[in-house]
Parts: sequence; structure tokens; C-alpha cells
Amino acid sequence: MTATANGAPPSVPAFLHPFARPAAESSSFVRIVGGKGARVWDDQGNTYIDAMASLWYCAVGHGRPEMAEAIARQAGTLGGYQCFDRFTNEPADALAERIASIAPEPGSRVFFTAGGSEAVDTALKLVRLAHVLRGDPGRTIVISRAPSYHGSAYGSTALTGLPPNQLGFGPGVPDVVQVPKDDLGAVRAIFEQHAGRVAAVFAEPIIGAAGVYPPQPGYLQELRRLCDEHGACLVLDEVITGFGRLGQWFAGQFYGVRADLTTFAKAVTSGYIPLGGVIVAPSVHEVLAADPAFILRHGFTYSGHPTACAAGLACLDIIERESLLSRPSVIGNALRPGLEALVSDGVVASFRGEMGVWAVELHPGQDVAAARDRLLDAGIVVRPIPPATIAMCPPFVIGADELDQILAALRSALA
Ligand SMILES: Cc1ncc(COP(=O)(O)O)c(C=O)c1O
Repeated sequence: MTATANGAPPSVPAFLHPFARPAAESSSFVRIVGGKGARVWDDQGNTYIDAMASLWYCAVGHGRPEMAEAIARQAGTLGGYQCFDRFTNEPADALAERIASIAPEPGSRVFFTAGGSEAVDTALKLVRLAHVLRGDPGRTIVISRAPSYHGSAYGSTALTGLPPNQLGFGPGVPDVVQVPKDDLGAVRAIFEQHAGRVAAVFAEPIIGAAGVYPPQPGYLQELRRLCDEHGACLVLDEVITGFGRLGQWFAGQFYGVRADLTTFAKAVTSGYIPLGGVIVAPSVHEVLAADPAFILRHGFTYSGHPTACAAGLACLDIIERESLLSRPSVIGNALRPGLEALVSDGVVASFRGEMGVWAVELHPGQDVAAARDRLLDAGIVVRPIPPATIAMCPPFVIGADELDQILAALRSALA
């Protein structure tokens, strides 16, 4: 076998794909070339209903001229510029103001990153730092849940409750303790075992990429109460739920739970440009600003990137102008009865979800990757989550006919 110019065997692409087999051959990839609304198409002429909004992010739908125009306008004025120290720019200031104005906690401030993993790593550092600045440096322990998905950077990998994602990468970030989801007794036990040492609890309001598990009623509220009782921060990881997935700007509002830090990414720009961040409530940012001489030694080259922030402003404009926060309940009302019927007819074992995010659980013995492939052949993009979950998180703009087609394809492909 002769190597290509870059040394790779000829049958594999130069692009080493994320969450994929490095040995996968070039011919096995689906090359998406365009999209409009809830549909995308590939270079072979196949059109798909994008039941995953790409990767949980394309809330406003594909192919939006308003997004392209806003991005081109900003790129033509000031494509990129850094925000370290004394520098700022108009789109970053405006987007921070805009997010603060819709944030669950009045008086919040916004830290920008380039994506969700950086947002989670930022939150992990900020909670520990806030305790140090409060004069309580022993609070380093962070509680997260299993299953959960918080990202692929070093801190977010440590917080993620999916053991295979940590395998082989060496020692993780210390002082991260995991408890089973929905097990408040386990959370209480950690607080008691490490009294005065817990910095924060990290939780996705709805566990997303680890399987789509809505919380048990009252669970998040009790997490909040336990954090208050024990002097710890609550971090809601809203990378999937932020900007409308549950029909309100944030899931914290949907569930009526206050967060000290809220991480976001994905739908803030609907993915047209990568952007993420952390909404920092006064409980944390007031501590950071208490000493006027203190310097926050944390940030990324692209924190406050003007073109990404212009995309964020344009995306939030679309969500507001088209009242897209009303769509997740429409999606949920359309999918729920169809999924119920799939269960009662024995096509799938169970389903779960809320508003704009859903999953079906396959019967034992059914292979999720094979099911995903059959759905692709039927023109539907879903996300397989081993061992047995098929996730769906469609764009807010998906139509009733397209939701019907998803249900029909699930029935035929999974029967
Ligand atoms: C809840 C949650 N947190 C963090 C992340 C990581 O975000 P990113 O892939 O943008 O780094 C994800 C990605 O799916 C996520 O779902």
C-alpha cells in the first residue's frame, strides 16, 4: 500500500474525523453539500430530513440568507479581533447585553468561548476560582452525573459521565466525583462525605448526548436546594437546551431552577459560526470583580469573536422575529403521539423526551448503528447513542409533514 503525500494510507481521508473510526474509508462518509430549512442534501443527490439539527444545534434551520448576510457584513467590516485585556468590539458587547437581557438571572454577565467544551472548562475553572477568591480554597470537588455529556476538552471530558469517552486518555482532572442521574441520595452522600469541600454540581437540565433523559420531577429543584444548603454552585450545562430547545430561552426557566453558571453554545448561532459561552450570575461575577486589581487569567483567542457574535445576534433576531420559541411545543405535540404508537405497536421498546428533544429506545438485540443506517437510507438523519438509543432534535422550523415523515421512517426502518 502506498502512502499519500501526508503519509496516510490511500483509502482513508486526510481529515481525521471526530467521534469516528480513524480507519474508516473515504467511501464510507456522507458528504453533505447543502441545506434549506430542516433538509440537507449530499453530493450524490440524496436529500435528508435533518431530525438532529446537525448536532443538536441548527435551531433556525439551514440555508438562511439573513445569517449569511450578517456574517458577510461583519466579516467585511471587522472579521476577527481579540478581546483580551482592554480590547472589545461592538458585536461582542451587543450579544453579551442581549444574552444577559434574556438570561434567567437578572444582572448576569457573559463570557464567550468558541464552543461548548470550552464553555464547560471555563465553568469548571470559574467555580473553583470563585471559592478561592471567597477565601475558601479547599472547595475543589465537583459533582457530575452518569450518564452525561459535557464535551471533549480536558475538563469537560472529566465531567462527562460516559466511561468509554475517558478510556486511554490518561489521568483526568482531579476532584471530579460522579453520581448516577436522578439519585439525590448519592448527591447528599457526597456533600456529607466531603463537607465544605464541594465547589459545584454540574448538570444538563435534560441529559442530551448521553441518551436524552429528562429529569425526574423535582430533581433539579432539590439539586439547587442542596447546593444552597452546602455552599456550592449549581452549573446548568445548557449547550443543547439553551436558546429555546424547551420553548423558553433557557431550560433553567422551563424548570424554574436558578443556576450560578449556565453554559451555552450550539443554538446561539444555530451553528453558522462556532460560538459558546458561560452566563455568569451575580453570585459568581461579583466575587470576580470584588478586588479591582484582580485579573481573570482565563480566555481564548476567539472569546468575543466579532463575526461569531454577529452571527449570534442575527440568530437571536430570527428566533424572536419568527416566534420560534413556540415551535418546540408544536414539535413535541406532533412527535409524542406518534412515538407512543410506535411503542404500543412494538416497533420500539420505549421513548422519552420533552418539547424539542426526543429519543426512542430500541429492543434488545437491535443495533443502533444499523438502525441509523436504515434511517439514512430512508432519508432521515438521526443520532445513534449506544447501546440502544436513537436521538432526535429537529430544527425549530421543521414542518408537520416532515415530522410525519420522520415517524413513518422510524416505523418502517425499525420494524
Ligand atoms: C451538554 C453539552 N455540553 C457540552 C458539549 C460540548 O460542546 P462542543 O462539542 O461544542 O465542544 C455538548 C456537545 O454536544 C453538550 O451536549
